[in-house]
Amino acid sequence: MLSQQELKQQAATAALEIVGEVAGPDVIIGVGTGSTADLFIDGLARFKGRLRGTVASSERSAARLAALGIPVLDLNDVEYMPIYVDGADELDGRLHMIKGGGGAQTREKIVASVADRFVCIADESKLVERLGAFPLPVEVIPMARAAVARKLAALGGRPALRDGFITDNGNVILDVAGLDIVDAPALELHINNLPGVVTCGLFTQPGADIALLATQQGIRRLVRQ
Ligand code: 5RP
Repeated sequence: MLSQQELKQQAATAALEIVGEVAGPDVIIGVGTGSTADLFIDGLARFKGRLRGTVASSERSAARLAALGIPVLDLNDVEYMPIYVDGADELDGRLHMIKGGGGAQTREKIVASVADRFVCIADESKLVERLGAFPLPVEVIPMARAAVARKLAALGGRPALRDGFITDNGNVILDVAGLDIVDAPALELHINNLPGVVTCGLFTQPGADIALLATQQGIRRLVRQ
């Protein structure tokens, strides 16, 4: 029986195979944040010299990449990336996701938006029928914390301030439990439109293009229809 750590490693290794397919001296890879993304980063070291570099979705990932000697580029200097590789907190059959368990969803969404394909790496336990058991992380400008929390409560959620956490952008995170997510794309748009919200952790516009889900029987690959 493979441990969760071994499953995460399996998913990261599967994404590294895709890097092997696209690698080249001009190629830049988008890199996510989290424990699964960390394993992907560690494996990227073997591509040093075969890639132009990476764009990181957090200071944490940037530091890990730099420590391995992998070039980290400023997104403003990058026009195209073939893939963005990242984990998820939840994923459904349409490859919509909840992300932001690490509080990095804003930069994750930005970097992913410049990449051709979003490759989600996770163990199969992240696959759910309906999103929402994982509290939805919402990045909020500090002065709007209470106002946004009231609006999220009016939507049926139970927002809780993530204690002692400040995002890379200097904002706070509200983790919203109890949301009944019937229409994830509509809810993503609605929450992102609340004044003071920077980015909510729903990723549906679009979601992932490919999910590499590690199972006890090997990798299960889901592709967005
Ligand atoms: C960070 C994220 C991560 O991708 C998500 O939390 C999954 O993390 P892990 O790979 O540690 O389970 O969205 O903001």
